[in-house]
Amino acid sequence: MLKSAVSLKRLMSAALLSALAALLTGCNVVTPDHSQSTFDTLGPVAENQLFIFWVIFWAGLVVFIAVEGALLYMVFKFKRRDDRDPKQTHGNTRVEIAWTIAPVIVLIVAAVPTIDGIFYADAGRFIDSNGASQELQVDVIGHQWWFEFRYPHPVNPGEQIAVANEMYVPVGEPVIFLLDSVDVIHSFWVPKLAGKVDMIPNNDNKMWFEAYVPGEFFGQCAEFCGVSHANMRFKVVAVPREEFDAWLMHQANPAPEPSGALAAQGKKLFRDEGCSGCHADSSSIIKLREDGGRIPGRTGPILTHVASRLNHLGIYRNSDVDFEDMSGSRQLYVNSQGIPTDRNTGQPFVNEAMLQNNLKVWITDPESLKPGNLMSRDGEPYIDPANTLTEQEIDALVAYLMTLK
Ligand code: CUA
Repeated sequence: MLKSAVSLKRLMSAALLSALAALLTGCNVVTPDHSQSTFDTLGPVAENQLFIFWVIFWAGLVVFIAVEGALLYMVFKFKRRDDRDPKQTHGNTRVEIAWTIAPVIVLIVAAVPTIDGIFYADAGRFIDSNGASQELQVDVIGHQWWFEFRYPHPVNPGEQIAVANEMYVPVGEPVIFLLDSVDVIHSFWVPKLAGKVDMIPNNDNKMWFEAYVPGEFFGQCAEFCGVSHANMRFKVVAVPREEFDAWLMHQANPAPEPSGALAAQGKKLFRDEGCSGCHADSSSIIKLREDGGRIPGRTGPILTHVASRLNHLGIYRNSDVDFEDMSGSRQLYVNSQGIPTDRNTGQPFVNEAMLQNNLKVWITDPESLKPGNLMSRDGEPYIDPANTLTEQEIDALVAYLMTLK
């Protein structure tokens, strides 16, 4: 009996220890270089929000130690020693004042940086009463389940340039984001730079962030928005101003006419099969409405320059080169034509074979990558057995999309 109780105790403490070890490796604060870690901040807004976290964490720790310490003190000090009732007390003004003032102090300690942080994260301070600002303003539009980004056209004030799932920003500059959604509530979050702010239909939430260093940052929808919520991701690519300008000018260019018979067949299929009903493929330009209201745009992601994106769907890599190498020197730069380029080889950063494979997997079975997406739900080739794409047709569509650099 005694023996089994001892071994049970040992087993329990072993289980507790391993659970604790697992917990500690889960939140690795010592080496926080994970792509979605909020402990490795690389911008002022995220830095400010991390500061608030630490203030509240340490304030919470002080409360925890005080409360648990008092509890343990009472347990041992006033342990029952005989059968007599303990001495009864009623009211203690000094203690009551103390436990009223102490929480007020704790709340003030938490409230001051929090309220300051709310104003700091608000992009409103960059925007004047006419909605204008010196900073770059990007419209972010949530769709189930992809992100649309619209940039002001650098030359034509009446136009915007739309891209999907991968956005570039100039490094070292505040960028303002005007958040909206076409369907349900999403949330805009780039863990290392800033977040999270909800993207609510017909609501003008806004935020800003700045990237201290060039890099490729992970973005994630942070509000449950349907079955593929976890797949609603994007990338932020921060590059120096002149590279950003080259990238944006290139995005404004129309797609070139495809050369080669297979790609030409793909372009025709893109129209015949109905792809072009939802996807823009020849131009990323969106004209602004006279009254300033938003033009809805297409249902599906803009594909005009899909073949120059570093990631497929904002998730899968189109390149086997990293943004920077082990020594920290930058491998990616945007060349003067606006194409992301590998610094070592001078070749496009995007690996053709990886891009080809990613596009093929997607067109063959979109449901396998983003369950519930509109294309597999409504697209003719996926719902009408008579219209199913043949292997050859898929290759033609892929060949066409690969020309959209
Ligand atoms: Cu969009 Cu979750």
